[in-house]
Amino acid sequence: MKNPLIEVQNIVFGYNKEAVLKNVSFSIGEGQFIGIIGPNGGGKSTLLKVLLGLLNPWSGTVKVDGKPPPTNLMAYVPQVFASDKAFPITVLEVVLGGRLRYLSSWGIFQKEDIEIATQALTQVGLGSLQKQSFGTLSSGQAQRVLIARALSSQPKILLLDEPTSSTDLEAENALYDIMAQLKNKLTILMVTHNIARILDHVDQVLCVEGIVTKIPLEDICEHFSIGLYHEPPGGAHKKGKI
Ligand SMILES: Nc1ncnc2c1ncn2[C@@H]1O[C@H](COP(=O)(O)OP(=O)(O)OP(=O)(O)O)[C@@H](O)[C@H]1O
Ligand SMILES: [Mg+2]
Repeated sequence: MKNPLIEVQNIVFGYNKEAVLKNVSFSIGEGQFIGIIGPNGGGKSTLLKVLLGLLNPWSGTVKVDGKPPPTNLMAYVPQVFASDKAFPITVLEVVLGGRLRYLSSWGIFQKEDIEIATQALTQVGLGSLQKQSFGTLSSGQAQRVLIARALSSQPKILLLDEPTSSTDLEAENALYDIMAQLKNKLTILMVTHNIARILDHVDQVLCVEGIVTKIPLEDICEHFSIGLYHEPPGGAHKKGKI
């Protein structure tokens, strides 16, 4: 790969004495859509935080567009947790959070910021909810608002840590439709529990389990969607053969 956009070399990181990420290396080209899978506790969220520059590796290097993170090129959609229902902030105000990095020294959002935020909300199908209180949204809607916030920062790279439990099938379908639309416009790294659902869209799948393994697309098994990772992947269990 010529000049990868993200280059990770020999990363080792842990919170305590034991390493969570054990000598991780991979690279990602511009415009690629990467699916990230792996068992609970395997280190997926940790890896995203290292890429964002929120956690410093014990050893190894991360480069994003040739420089160490943090960088304005990236936007992050965290897992949605139960929010304070009474917290008085509207959906549009949450999305405008993505424009903070562009705020002038006057500290006032410009017309352009509002337009970009509104457009991002429309892009995720929630244009009509601008004035609604964020705390009243369903978890699937709240997640889409956080995607709109990320998009309104006009990133080159979108990192998405998908929740595994708080969304229903309809919300999940809406999420994957948005990702399919964004493909080729951005470089996307998406932690997902349902890799089979987006297999047609991803360029590469990384399995994070202490180490990071690249899994050939033809070896993705539908068992992976229910958390049953097995070695070696594929064989008689290849997609469509179970
Ligand atoms: N802040 C922290 N302090 C100490 N240990 C942590 C911290 N965050 C995560 N860990 C530990 O690091 C390991 C990897 O956690 P991580 O959240 O990256 O896994 P994950 O692959 O995202 O899991 P899940 O699928 O459940 O989201 C786990 O053993 C977890 O307990
Ligand atoms: Mg996680």
